Formats: sequence, structure tokens, C-alpha cells
Amino acid sequence: MSKDRLLSVERLVKIYGDKPAVRGISFSVDEGEIFALIGPNGAGKTTTMRIIATLLKPTSGRVLVDGHDVVSEPLEVRRRISYLPEEAGAYPNMTGREYLEFVAQVYFEDPGEARAAVERGIEYAALGDAIDERVKTYSKGMKRRLQLARALMTRPRLLLLDEPTSGVDVVHAVHLRRVVKRVAREEGSTVLLSSHNMLEVEYLSDRVAFIHEGRILVEGTPGEVKKRYGAGNLEEAFVRALEEQGLSLGGSG
Ligand SMILES: Nc1ncnc2c1ncn2[C@@H]1O[C@H](COP(=O)(O)OP(=O)(O)OP(=O)(O)O)[C@@H](O)[C@H]1O
Ligand SMILES: [Mg+2]
Repeated sequence: MSKDRLLSVERLVKIYGDKPAVRGISFSVDEGEIFALIGPNGAGKTTTMRIIATLLKPTSGRVLVDGHDVVSEPLEVRRRISYLPEEAGAYPNMTGREYLEFVAQVYFEDPGEARAAVERGIEYAALGDAIDERVKTYSKGMKRRLQLARALMTRPRLLLLDEPTSGVDVVHAVHLRRVVKRVAREEGSTVLLSSHNMLEVEYLSDRVAFIHEGRILVEGTPGEVKKRYGAGNLEEAFVRALEEQGLSLGGSG
């Protein structure tokens, strides 16, 4: 038993119909750690996150969040997590501020705590005057910033961020990454994220796992993974990890 294990995924399998998406993956994340899942399209990242978020039932295997089983104790799990899906929608007719207020009221009984959460959300989203415009007038990246701010402002024990900054411009992505790191370091939130942006992964993550076709190929700190493959960066390491397995992406296969 690890001392402060917040998330534990054990031999997780998910088969959609007769199509295996996740083929027995295991990993664990300690309290306060930032852990990234990296892998090509269709590798099983979103499936894994949806199971942890209690939105999808595993075919077999076990997932514990702070000691609570996602299948038998979903309410205990939901109380501890905040999930940013790959594609999240807000209420189009609300303003950004109204949306954050709505979410905060659902999360916090205490009005003072709810107000403080909204203040944090407004700072994280960094939307300026647009916070008082209707969400339907936002660009894709602005909606994403509002959704990520929503996920972060409640200070969950476990943050599940599926491609958090996809569609967000460079300047705002840098701001959001700083916020994610700050929330993990200062609030002690544990973070599981997926990303196709290797700069983002290197900046944020304490540990990473490469997933391919539902299996973890390698896991470690970014430094360990790069060293293992003699690679200068994670992108290079990922390609080498695939080659080592005799796997390739597309082509003649
Ligand atoms: N609802 C579903 N029904 C059937 N198959 C699905 C479903 N959702 C995902 N899959 C399949 O499961 C596999 C894993 O998909 P998943 O969305 O978990 O990948 P991912 O790693 O998140 O990819 P991406 O980087 O494109 O987001 C894929 O082969 C996909 O086609
Ligand atoms: Mg995905």
C-alpha cells in the first residue's frame, strides 16, 4: 500500500460490444501529483477517464478514488472529483458569470464558499468583460477556458482533465497551465490529464504514461521516460516506445 494513493486503476478493461478499447491497464496517482496519459487517437484515454468519472462502467478491473470504488460507491467518488470532458458544453443563454455561479451553488452549501469559488473561476477563465456576455457568443477557446475554470474553481480532491487546453490560444494556455499547477501545488489537488501537447505534458506532469491500443507501454517521470529511450523530448520518446514494440502508426503497419 502506498502512503497517499489518491487514484488507483487496477487491470482495467473496457470492451464496447466486441471491440476492446482498454485492455488491462494499471497505474496509480499519489495525492498532489499531476499524472498525464499520452497516446494516439483511439488509445483509450477518454474511455479510462470516463470510467474514473463514474460515467461509464468497466468491463472488468477496479478503480478506487480516495479508497472508494467507482462502481459500488459512485456518489462518494463524484463528491471528490471534477471532470472536464473532451467536449463540454455550458448553458448557451447564461453569461459566463451566471454559469460559474450556477455551478458553485450546486457544489457549495455555504454562500461565502460559493462566492469565493466564483471569484477563483473568473480569475482562472481570464475572460475580461466577456464574463458578462452570453456563452453562446463565445469562441471555442473561450468556452474551453470557462469550462476549465469551472472544473478548477471547486478545488476537488481529484481533477480529471481530458485535453484541457485543446483549442485554447498560446497565451491563455500558458495561463491555464500555471493555474492547474498552482491548484495542484497549493490546494493539494491530484490531477489526471490527457493531452496531445507534449510541451504541456512536460511542463505539468510529475509522471506520464504512454498508452497505445488500450495498453500502457511505459510509465515514469518525463525525465525517466526520455532517458530510457535516449530521447531529447517526450515526442521522440513516444515514437521510439512505439517502434520498440514493433508498432507503428497507420501506413502499411
Ligand atoms: N461509445 C463508444 N462505442 C464504441 N466504441 C467506442 C466508444 N467510445 C470510444 N470507442 C472506441 O474505443 C477506443 C478508445 O477511444 P477513446 O475515446 O478512449 O480514445 P482516446 O485515447 O481518448 O482518443 P483521442 O486522442 O482521439 O481522444 C477507440 O477505438 C474508439 O473508437
Ligand atoms: Mg479522447
